[in-house]
Amino acid sequence: MQAILKKLTAGEGTSPAEWQALLECSQPAERQALYKAAYAVKLQTVGPTVYFRGIVELSNICSKDCYYCGIRRSNANVERYQMGEDEIVRDALWAHEHRYGSIVLQAGERQDAAFVDQIERILKRIKAESDGELGITLSLGEQSAEVYRAWFEAGAHRYLLRVETTNPDLYRQLHPATHDFDTRVACLDTLRDVGYQVGTGVMIGLPNQTTADLAQDIRFFRDHDIDMIGMGPYVLHSETPLAQRVDAINPVTQLELGLKMIAVTRLVLRDVNIAATTALQALHPTGREMGLQAGANIIMPNLTDTPYRKDYQLYEGKPCIDEDSTMCRGCLQKRVAGIGETIGLGQWGDSPHYLRRAGGRSLVEGTGADTGTGV
Ligand code: 5AD
Ligand code: FES
Repeated sequence: MQAILKKLTAGEGTSPAEWQALLECSQPAERQALYKAAYAVKLQTVGPTVYFRGIVELSNICSKDCYYCGIRRSNANVERYQMGEDEIVRDALWAHEHRYGSIVLQAGERQDAAFVDQIERILKRIKAESDGELGITLSLGEQSAEVYRAWFEAGAHRYLLRVETTNPDLYRQLHPATHDFDTRVACLDTLRDVGYQVGTGVMIGLPNQTTADLAQDIRFFRDHDIDMIGMGPYVLHSETPLAQRVDAINPVTQLELGLKMIAVTRLVLRDVNIAATTALQALHPTGREMGLQAGANIIMPNLTDTPYRKDYQLYEGKPCIDEDSTMCRGCLQKRVAGIGETIGLGQWGDSPHYLRRAGGRSLVEGTGADTGTGV
């Protein structure tokens, strides 16, 4: 294990089999060595600055039926909501006022024209009302190239679309037959072609998922030249078909695997942005801090208006359900300071990986926005 870590720290070539060996390390001392090496590479490549991406969960209406997700279409126990345009814009401007630099608009997947047009209007308003300063990431699922282009032109410049797993057989076990793995991968390529910074990720610790699968997921991120990674442990939601199929999952091993995956991804991909996702905190009270210490550099504070939060539970035990934006802001500031890191306020915080790819140039020029080169 030491030999593999040495090669990775020096930026030398390694194989998926070696990444898998790291993912399988089980002794506490080995895990600590892995996190320490990943943290050293994080400091070298992206530095000790954490960027905030305030997330607005603008609707839980979803046309999809993923077997693991609490807001899947067939879950009749969910009270469905759609935030109003004014509410969404107000939340975005709150983030701008508090110098978050960047936000994420996320929702269940919808492809109808009313929804597409509404997002376009919201993007234009946020851009105009923040003087082009607020960075906007979308996380709105699979769409046509035309829709991705319209939203890009309206002001979004990053897009998150988790591939969920890169093993097509496992993908089929987790989704109804109408959800197609190849379509999802094609969407990532389209997003790149349109000009977005592209983020993807997987769930970690899924039933029937092996460490070999996870090593291949990292290979996929590398081969698709991904700029941002958002991935987290799979967490049960009892009102889903997948929860009926599995026994209780062990939160300790699930958290460990999530952290090891962050660390190995940091060691292999080096200069990308990696989120310490909320699912880590569903498994342990300081799970997100642990994520930062294992190599992540992004946190997504929840901006969703409190009354809606209880209805956006993709998995059980999601934190921050009763809190509001101000409480999450204070809480996360303390958590980041608690591990000796600083928050990159007022900056987009693009990954050095992306800046290298784009020749150090922001795609949205002439806006006067900070492109986040200060990492
Ligand atoms: N556990 C963990 N993550 C989940 N997601 C959906 N359901 C769950 C779950 N039960 C993740 C998916 C999706 C993202 C928005 O939330 O990866 O892409
Ligand atoms: Fe929301 Fe801590 S981040 S309460």
